[in-house]
Amino acid sequence: MDTKVYQPTPIHIRHCAALLRHGDVVAFPTETVYGLGADARNEAAVRKIYEAKGRPSDNPLIVHIADMQRISEFVAEVPETAVKLTKAFSPGPLTIVYRKKPCIPDIVTGGLQTVGIRIPSHPVALALLREADVPVCAPSANLSTKPSPTTARHVLQDMDGRIPAVLDGGPCQVGIESTVIDVTTTPPRILRQGGIPSEEIVKVIGAVGLAQSGTVALCPGMKYKHYAPKAEVLFSAYYDDMHVTICQYYDKLTQSGKRPVILALDDRAPLYGDRNVMTVGKDYAAYAHNVFADLRAADEQGYTVVIAEGVESKGIGESLINRLIKSSGGQVI
Ligand code: TXA
Ligand code: MG
Repeated sequence: MDTKVYQPTPIHIRHCAALLRHGDVVAFPTETVYGLGADARNEAAVRKIYEAKGRPSDNPLIVHIADMQRISEFVAEVPETAVKLTKAFSPGPLTIVYRKKPCIPDIVTGGLQTVGIRIPSHPVALALLREADVPVCAPSANLSTKPSPTTARHVLQDMDGRIPAVLDGGPCQVGIESTVIDVTTTPPRILRQGGIPSEEIVKVIGAVGLAQSGTVALCPGMKYKHYAPKAEVLFSAYYDDMHVTICQYYDKLTQSGKRPVILALDDRAPLYGDRNVMTVGKDYAAYAHNVFADLRAADEQGYTVVIAEGVESKGIGESLINRLIKSSGGQVI
């Protein structure tokens, strides 16, 4: 299959919307990461997503819509907490898990009676959803286990020849996926940390539960290997002198013939002397924006080990820690 990359002009958006309506898959930009979309009501179309990604089909997909007004077509009930969350964070990087209506097939929800719904804020995503006029389920547009794609080029690295079309909307602003929150329980439970920090959610709806990573049945996606480049990833816990430990690991790795690189905030790079460093930006938001791109860049540049600096567990830092621990397969130093 020939994979075409389209600039997001009105004509190309119309073409990609028609592909979706006719049961094909299209990769498109959102503010978090690129998604691989299909008409959520069309089982054959949804199957193409799982095939293209090599993704286990018990892992449910998020359904993307453009307007909250349409929500009652897909969900059985909109609890008060969801109304508040939507008002505060939608459109944006928040996915809300509701009780589903039968029009959402089992293949989308992995057999669960719930469905995750998100209104993305990226203008190209919204234009595509409006033009397609169908609910679009979309996981991240990477091969299963790889780092999520934050540019059209990353999508092509994984999907060239496997899908018909990629809409190129430039680099994604947030860089990590949406926060997933289940409002079918009291209190609501955060199933996956992401673009909206849990502190912000607590400010709007009060106390929330947090699904521990052990409770895999709640958010099936979290049990699989994730966000892993070819290089081995070591994640450093955050503390004042973490650069000392990071340097010791780096030097040992070099002595054993490995090619390590350190992911570090801009102003901390000098702490590592002449060791190889990839700077991730000036703050945690920049680190989140760059993290998946840098994991892919490490592979492209031939590094065999990535040592990622830790961050404080606050704001987007909390979600960043979650992604880096997963991409390290739990190798925390
Ligand atoms: O930012 C995002 O959320 C991106 C963009 C494309 O919107 N999408 C994304 O999809 O990250 P995916 O499939 O890579 O991750 C969806 C996560 C998985 O961990 C899945 O298990 C969970 O959401 N999920 C989806 N529906 C669920 C449901 N009904 N109940 C529990 N977890 C659900
Ligand atoms: Mg994903």
